[in-house]
Amino acid sequence: MKEDKKLIVSAIQNGTVIDHIPAHNLFNVISILGLDKITENQVTFGTNFKSDRLGRKAIIKVSGIYFKDSDINKIALVAPHAKLNIIKDYEVVEKNEVMVPEEIIGIAKCMNPKCITNHEAITTRFDVMDKNGNISLKCRYCQKITDQAHLEIIR
Ligand code: CTP
Ligand code: ZN
Repeated sequence: MKEDKKLIVSAIQNGTVIDHIPAHNLFNVISILGLDKITENQVTFGTNFKSDRLGRKAIIKVSGIYFKDSDINKIALVAPHAKLNIIKDYEVVEKNEVMVPEEIIGIAKCMNPKCITNHEAITTRFDVMDKNGNISLKCRYCQKITDQAHLEIIR
């Protein structure tokens, strides 16, 4: 039995399991989905599970919530290989991949210290550039590119 199966984070009856999150981006995914602000639904997560592809992966389980595609796709920034498992009555009824969106509004900071978004209360806006799975963000305000290494999620 794989260690992430039943032993460490238990199965859920209904909801969403987000699997294959790079371990170091677990809390970024939690912020992006607003799970840190959830008041009613049960959320469980585990991290640093072994994964052949990611080295170390994290898993998040949210009971009773089925996310909109547009919300889920936002996590492509930090977890491009995440898998979305829709759970109904303990069964995985759907397994979806995350799709990289064309634009990102809010969520990320522009890495240009002179950018107006870093000086005034303006929501950031970026065009997403995807070069062979290497995602970077082009700011609509200053045109500067924020690459993966400089990506900072707004909390
Ligand atoms: N899961 C869960 N509760 C359920 C059913 C599944 O929490 N009632 C979780 C499993 O623990 C797993 C994920 O949902 O983390 C996907 O389940 P499944 O497709 O059965 O696992 P794998 O085949 O290992 O998935 P993958 O191929 O995506 O790694
Ligand atoms: Zn900018």
